[in-house]
Amino acid sequence: PQVYVITPTYRRQEQLADLTRLGYTLKHVPNLLWLLIEDSDSLNPLVADLLKKINVPFVHLNGKVLSILIPNSLSFSNISARIPEEYQKKKGKPRGVSNRNLGLEWIKKNATDGAFYFADDDNTYDPELFEEIRKTVNVSMFPVGVCTPYQVSSPIVRDGKIIGFYDGWKAGRKFPVDMAGFAVGGKFLLSRPNATMSFVMGKEEEDFLRSLDPFEISDIELLASNCTKILVWHTRTQKNAEAPAIDVKYNDTNLVELRKI
Ligand code: UGA
Ligand code: MN
Repeated sequence: PQVYVITPTYRRQEQLADLTRLGYTLKHVPNLLWLLIEDSDSLNPLVADLLKKINVPFVHLNGKVLSILIPNSLSFSNISARIPEEYQKKKGKPRGVSNRNLGLEWIKKNATDGAFYFADDDNTYDPELFEEIRKTVNVSMFPVGVCTPYQVSSPIVRDGKIIGFYDGWKAGRKFPVDMAGFAVGGKFLLSRPNATMSFVMGKEEEDFLRSLDPFEISDIELLASNCTKILVWHTRTQKNAEAPAIDVKYNDTNLVELRKI
């Protein structure tokens, strides 16, 4: 079965470095389609060039190009992969939600089987993770290494059954998991037309998993050898706050202009 990887991404100093690392990781995985979805009004040509160079099967989207890429899917036209304006200026805005929702719409329209996974662009993935994800029928879960004193976020498993969750931020959630800790079957998504991610910061995973109703903890499929292996880490690339925002422009192969954005 196909694995669909939905990656939200946005323009920043570290973007091309993060996407280079992720892209060449995905290159080790057969039967994979990478949906790279920009939180932007226009596609970044440097990202497009990088995708072509890495040459992993991909779909490169943002809100505006959808009508060109998928002309018959009118329902796409009112969905934007840009974070809604009301959230843009908020401190602590929900990150990557509109792009992931656009990915969900793409999956609903185009995928009939297989499984999809939300893969943030700055995490670290063992290619074996995607072979595990391929086994997903409904909703699967697996441990995520986290670079905090908690060290891991994972379902707690006893005798092959899930008896709870270990996570540094439980916050009364029914499904206290990391964004990188679950995958969903394509057919299962089609059977849940209300599936969507909310813009409530910190509740993105929770609200998405709740939107899969009917879906209970006992339905979770446990991967990575009953959740004993860590195949993904929630890493973060250090940001250099001092660096000026520069937009690098290319004319064919020549660097022609640097300007502030
Ligand atoms: C954590 C979670 O893993 C995210 O899935 C969640 O969206 C986020 O927290 C949250 O709760 O706000 P974290 O590492 O803190 O992730 O967030 P980022 O890596 O900065 O962003 C998550 C994803 O969204 C990345 O793929 C990033 O490229 C993308 N993003 C971020 C956007 O598309 N637009 C933005 O303005 C910011
Ligand atoms: Mn991150």
